Amino acid sequence: MKVLHVVGARPNFMKAAPVYRALASRGHQQTLVHTGQHYDALMSDVFFQALEIPAPDESLNVGSGSHAQQTASIMSLFEPVVLARQPEIVLVYGDVNSTVAAALVCAKLGIRIGHVESGLRSNDRTMPEEINRLVTDQLADLLFTPSVDGDENLAREGVAKEKIFLVGNVMIDTLVQFLPKADALYPKLQAELSLGSYGLVTLHRPSNVDDEATFLPMLEVLDSLSRELPLIFPVHPRTRQKWAAQLEKCNPNLRVLSPQGYLEFLALQKNAIVVITDSGGIQEETTYLGTPCLTLRENTERPITITQGTNLLIGRDWELLRKGFHAALNGPRKQQAPPPLWDGKASERIAEILTRLSL
Ligand code: UD1
Repeated sequence: MKVLHVVGARPNFMKAAPVYRALASRGHQQTLVHTGQHYDALMSDVFFQALEIPAPDESLNVGSGSHAQQTASIMSLFEPVVLARQPEIVLVYGDVNSTVAAALVCAKLGIRIGHVESGLRSNDRTMPEEINRLVTDQLADLLFTPSVDGDENLAREGVAKEKIFLVGNVMIDTLVQFLPKADALYPKLQAELSLGSYGLVTLHRPSNVDDEATFLPMLEVLDSLSRELPLIFPVHPRTRQKWAAQLEKCNPNLRVLSPQGYLEFLALQKNAIVVITDSGGIQEETTYLGTPCLTLRENTERPITITQGTNLLIGRDWELLRKGFHAALNGPRKQQAPPPLWDGKASERIAEILTRLSL
């Protein structure tokens, strides 16, 4: 089968890597298209190297822009590529602008679309990713879900049952595969960063980092928590660009770093006392690793990380944040099995389904 994968932003890379490998081992003909939504070496190239993904066959180099500009650029540059390559199916990943842009192009050309990480819903349409998820799932022909809540959401939206495949979490496939390497690298990282006990922070969502009235109080709380436990804060370029001066003024226990590579960040998550984040994927990775996760959002499209994981939604309740932080600092870690099908084999299941369909 001729399969074309579309990736563009950091969280796509760890999802596409295991699917690409599982399809390669079954002899499918594959093309990898990188839209260039993320273009900094630390947001893109380092992931291709660490995850051993082949160089993209096509790079669209779209770069940044407003949502409309970025989505439109991807669409107009992707259309000729997909017309020239004539894939039998296009696989799109997650919920970023590259995902929905490629899905729209394919839907209009009548090319089959497979959506990996389908069915997740925050039910919050102020989140750009929620719009991307809703539209992509309406357009997709094959919907690969990571957990049963995804199937339920899709059924509620009227998606035909035959199109939905509960396969598990492909990002956990990558985690399972690379955890030994991350473990091996940790002592060096620990020495380089002089790490003792620490917490780990990431923040990049527009709803958290765009406005002064939201971000500065958040930074103040983090600054104060870091006096109890040093906090490592690898900063997304979006956050850094906007708040360089304010970040510099924080106390030295709130340590601002450049974005980390995949293995480094995995090792940092595993060994952290607590993770404070607004990312989606990190809620899942911490659940698998058993690290307490405090999510600075009002909702999550990954509720299973709360019911069967280590995640706690904090919103902007700083008292709750302090409570969760102290519980992680002083209490035992939750011991529980990861959610069903988060077993390192989701991509194998996707490859099996695609192979069966191509016969
Ligand atoms: C995107 C995804 C988000 C995902 C995040 C992971 C969408 C709508 N958002 O958000 O779901 O959680 O990736 O990182 O697709 N920038 C750089 N260098 C880069 C990329 C971006 O400096 O390589 C800066 C630019 O100023 C850019 C801003 O970050 O305007 C935002 O980038 P963009 O790709 O639009 O969204 P992210 O916030 O990265």
